Amino acid sequence: MLNLKANAKINLTLDVIGRRDDGYHDMVTIMQGTTLSDDIFIDISDGGGKVSVETDKVYLPNGEKNIAGKAARVYLDSFGINNKDVSIKIIKQIPVCAGLGGGSADAAAVIVGLEEYFNMPLSDRINTADTIGSDVPFCFFNGTMLARGRGEVLENLPALPDCAIVLCKPAFSISTPKLFGKLDEQKIKCRPDTDGMIRALEAGDFSGVAHRCFNVFESVLPSAHRQTVEHIKDVMLSGGAGGAAMSGTGSAVFGIYFDKDKALDSAELLKREYKECFIAKPL
Ligand code: C5P
Repeated sequence: MLNLKANAKINLTLDVIGRRDDGYHDMVTIMQGTTLSDDIFIDISDGGGKVSVETDKVYLPNGEKNIAGKAARVYLDSFGINNKDVSIKIIKQIPVCAGLGGGSADAAAVIVGLEEYFNMPLSDRINTADTIGSDVPFCFFNGTMLARGRGEVLENLPALPDCAIVLCKPAFSISTPKLFGKLDEQKIKCRPDTDGMIRALEAGDFSGVAHRCFNVFESVLPSAHRQTVEHIKDVMLSGGAGGAAMSGTGSAVFGIYFDKDKALDSAELLKREYKECFIAKPL
């Protein structure tokens, strides 16, 4: 039995720079791994190449409909392995449909686990991972990275200065393709200062980083959702966060705090209104 951690990511900045011919969008985003994680258990036995997935959330798909199962299938097929069964169990802690890359992290962990077990790394790991989901390549690395393209062109950045991260997911979820569609319909007026964020990271300047947290998707949220996101950001900022933004296509919002006690207080305050609130550290 293999036991792996799958870590949530946040997008410190998120910009979408254009629609591509393949229907996807080119992005420029600074991604950050966090210590909030799912637990993945993988059992490999003799069999006929069957993949099964079980989670502790009834609403999540099982088997190969689950992105973690899809990852196992892609791995087995890449090597033509058809004499083993792969059984995956996922204990979720990362909120689902939240923009925190939970499913992608689970998929990446499955690939890492299978590579270890069979002692056979995928030959084109990043591009293979990208076919499973746009955030999967980042999940192999965590840390602080600049991601471009669909998310598969990755560059290491200096680490986010030590801080606490509060993550809060409101009850609603947002459809990722729909939100990309909304962005296509209008001209983006405000974009993140990605270069400034990189300079702040290079200087180890926490407040320079925090002030520049920015996500273009917030501007195209339906108004009720936007109000909720703004409210969570207000609670975080007035509670001492240096910066706050929605992560990915939401609906989770993160705040980064220099002072860990203030992060704890904010998380407690937010928990009164939202069930899914967590405190994490950069990874
Ligand atoms: O790759 P992933 O399955 O996470 O993407 C989900 C959906 O989000 C895609 O089907 C696409 O509509 C949209 N997407 C996009 N451009 C990206 C990433 C995702 O348009 N770079």
